[in-house]
Amino acid sequence: MLQDGKIDLAKKKLYIQTFGCQMNVQDADKMSVLLLESGYEATDDPATADLIIVNTCSIREKAAEKICSQLGRFRTLKVQKPHLKIGVGGCLAQHWGEHFFKRVPYLDLVFGTHQIHRLPEMVYALEQTGGRQAETAFCDRVPSLDIVAQPTAGAVTTFVTIMQGCDNFCAYCVVPALRGREQSRPLPEILREVKTLAGQGIREVTLLGQNVNSYGQTRDGSPDFTDLIQAVGEIAGIERIRFTTSHPKDLSPKLIASFGKVASLCEHIHLPVQSGSDRVLERMNRGYTAQDYREKIAALRATCPGISITSDVIVGFPGEEDGDFQATLALMQDVRFDNLFSFQYSQRQGTAAAGMDRQVSGSVKRERLRVLQALQAEHTREKYSACLGRTEAVLVEGVSKNEPNEMTGRTRGNRIVNFPGHPELIGKTVSVKITKAFLHSLRGKMEERGAAYVH
Ligand code: 5AD
Ligand code: SF4
Repeated sequence: MLQDGKIDLAKKKLYIQTFGCQMNVQDADKMSVLLLESGYEATDDPATADLIIVNTCSIREKAAEKICSQLGRFRTLKVQKPHLKIGVGGCLAQHWGEHFFKRVPYLDLVFGTHQIHRLPEMVYALEQTGGRQAETAFCDRVPSLDIVAQPTAGAVTTFVTIMQGCDNFCAYCVVPALRGREQSRPLPEILREVKTLAGQGIREVTLLGQNVNSYGQTRDGSPDFTDLIQAVGEIAGIERIRFTTSHPKDLSPKLIASFGKVASLCEHIHLPVQSGSDRVLERMNRGYTAQDYREKIAALRATCPGISITSDVIVGFPGEEDGDFQATLALMQDVRFDNLFSFQYSQRQGTAAAGMDRQVSGSVKRERLRVLQALQAEHTREKYSACLGRTEAVLVEGVSKNEPNEMTGRTRGNRIVNFPGHPELIGKTVSVKITKAFLHSLRGKMEERGAAYVH
């Protein structure tokens, strides 16, 4: 890559590693679009890269630790290849800003969550001056919100960002501080993107944002999230719509009614509850009680029987006592989630909870998490076992990772199904009879043609 001591511009290679949520994955795709347009070539091997970007997450302390140890591994490459540039973007970059240079002295570039659009310019400046670059200012309107990430070649499903940022200020959550206030993309732009995706073979879109059900609420009279779902539901070729993540307090009756009205809206909702104790929910500033949550679940199930419901729970929030934890277990028993993502509370600088008294010890948090996960494993097993013998409509996404003669896809309830089949089925919806249930996936047999439901 080095010619006469200079970087060969035509052959610069880019390696991006991303941590964190789906929003970050989307951002990494946008970074890639911008840098490939500026002359970089993507590489899968960091050892061959001239520029490494680590797209960081800061949601829990563990994420920061993982990122720092990954950067340590990239440092070895930089010792061997001094012209290698290493940059960090995303939430931890926003969190630490220029302080990142103190923690990781061999870094060249730090850019915040609102500065993705400036990446080519910053990289160019790095190449010209050899100095360091840092930019973490917030923008009133995030320019990168409108950059359209390209779906992976041959993909059947993809994510479409509809909004970013968050105005909720849950006491534990660092996201509002790192992603800024809610900003929604205009509806016509989203529809244009989804139509293009449908033309490229995409059959399922997941509408993505930190709090999708407050989509559009920042502007009076503008279309809301339900209007958006209805409009996407009319786009030819899009057979399935999902969305993530939604906040229980903003789950309106109108949105619940969409499950009975929009044929392509899948029977699954991820609705993070965080705790089953009213005292804890109040300290978390969640804006609902456990009873409100139970009522929303009942309304969802009345409109859409069999809807799959997944959630997030935090154990060991400051002040959480055993009785509060028992209330969370009781809520789980009542609701019986299809799946649950559970976390030990992690103190994040800049959040309201970081300064709260009665922080819970590590050993108590670990024990509560163990108990909660054991209960959820029972519920997940029960839900998956209930699928045995059913015939499910499966959208085929690709060849199974473990079995080359098997195809993999998902049910409308978002369960993974593997079954013997041929790659010509990719992108089609087929009927699969479920013959085996594992903890996180199902196996089945495609129904004979004729009986099969194939688009
Ligand atoms: N500690 C532990 N878990 C957290 N989450 C968000 N912030 C924290 C924190 N400080 C969890 C919440 C959220 C999910 C994405 O991460 O459950 O819904
Ligand atoms: Fe991590 Fe939250 Fe940032 Fe996503 S938005 S990368 S989960 S801190």
